[in-house]
Amino acid sequence: MAGFVKVATTGELPPGQSKKVDIAGKTVAVFNIGGSYHAMDDTCTHKGGPLSEGHVEGNMVTCPWHGAKFNVTTGEVAGPPARTGVSSYRCRVNGSDVEVEI
Ligand code: FES
Repeated sequence: MAGFVKVATTGELPPGQSKKVDIAGKTVAVFNIGGSYHAMDDTCTHKGGPLSEGHVEGNMVTCPWHGAKFNVTTGEVAGPPARTGVSSYRCRVNGSDVEVEI
């Protein structure tokens, strides 16, 4: 059933940090960009690199394997070699919980 699922506490995910979570059969990367939380599929569309381990600069994450760039707020691809974006998911803060809508 779709709904918001707790993936972390705000204390676990301070600004500039990211985390990989497994929810509802999906592997999702959750990012804190300047206090705003964003979630998208963790798996790079190029060859499957873990985007939660990528370098984040502004709203962009760089895949640690071959350098594709993705917009963390939308999941859209922003630089090669990946050609397609990843799914993104809505996030919210509920008390001290960070929740992702799956
Ligand atoms: S696996 Fe991400 S750029 Fe190649």
